Amino acid sequence: MSRVFAGVRPTGKLHIGNYLGAIKNFVALQEQHECIYCIVDIHALTTLEETSKLQENIRDMVLDWLAAGLDPKKSTMFVQSHVPQVTELHTLLSMVTPLSWLLRVPTFKEKAKQQPRNVNYGLVGYPVLMTSDIVLYKADKIPVGEDQLPHLELAREIVRRFNSIFGPTFPEPQPELSEAPLVLGIDGQQKMSKSLNNHIEIAATPEETKKRVMMMVTDPQRIYRHQPGRPEVCNVYRMEHFFAPRDLERVHFECTHATLGCVQNKEFLGEQINSYFAPFRQRRQEMAARPEYIDEVLAEGARRASKIAEETLREVKEKMGLMPRRS
Ligand code: AMP
Ligand code: TRP
Repeated sequence: MSRVFAGVRPTGKLHIGNYLGAIKNFVALQEQHECIYCIVDIHALTTLEETSKLQENIRDMVLDWLAAGLDPKKSTMFVQSHVPQVTELHTLLSMVTPLSWLLRVPTFKEKAKQQPRNVNYGLVGYPVLMTSDIVLYKADKIPVGEDQLPHLELAREIVRRFNSIFGPTFPEPQPELSEAPLVLGIDGQQKMSKSLNNHIEIAATPEETKKRVMMMVTDPQRIYRHQPGRPEVCNVYRMEHFFAPRDLERVHFECTHATLGCVQNKEFLGEQINSYFAPFRQRRQEMAARPEYIDEVLAEGARRASKIAEETLREVKEKMGLMPRRS
């Protein structure tokens, strides 16, 4: 049977990119697979200069997950640093990972450019830690957005190398892309991301949501209201595929015939997003009033994850000669 594993960095509340690219898939997968979802707080340290918000961010993430429909009876949810075996495995896997593989990872090069004064050792090792997350649980199905594909490719290379030196141990992890592997931000150009401030938080108020949607870039060539627009290059139309699937034909017709203006269309999308996330926002509010429940979910998740982690780490140490083999 396949096991699902995914990690999300606790860098703030979920945005529409995270939701459509990953979390919606997390929820669907729990119906058919054993799923383990991890809040990767150690990974967050590679880029966070400010760590005072980390605890708050972790709780926000659990709230978002539960409100989005993750069920602690079906899915194991835990915080990465609560199962410290992952750091030990990270050290062990680093011994079979050539530095040259890590230096050519596109996200490393990008981050090194973004934060030239903080190119730390942890940043280079980021994909090794990510591989450790996955293989510690011997997971083979990894729901992620498109931006994570190079990391998973590297994870497979590390797994192949480990298995060829020490014998078959880990399955090769495969990506599980969602129907929206790359959601663009409100700028309509770059991937939606908190760090680019082009995101729309799913837990935002209806007013905040509308404001952000009104900032969305549409067809850049459509300057006047009477000009026909080109839905195929319009990010608002692209988002309507998810939030207003039944209106696509109408919007397409009205936009290309210049009977629907961009402002009007954005007002419509804002309303649709708000009604789509209304039940989510309601559940999130109810859940936020029960902080002890969040603690329970995370404690139970760490207990379950630790059991698997201990078993895998023991096997790895035996294979690498750090412990006598059990016969
Ligand atoms: P992060 O917040 O970067 O740790 O991302 C959490 C998950 O959301 C990962 O699986 C990402 O691949 C996915 N994700 C983040 N941003 C986007 C986006 N703009 N479009 C699609 N997926 C995304
Ligand atoms: N690198 C992932 C991201 O930035 C987060 C992550 C850490 C992850 N460990 C993982 C994703 C294991 C999938 C599997 O989104």
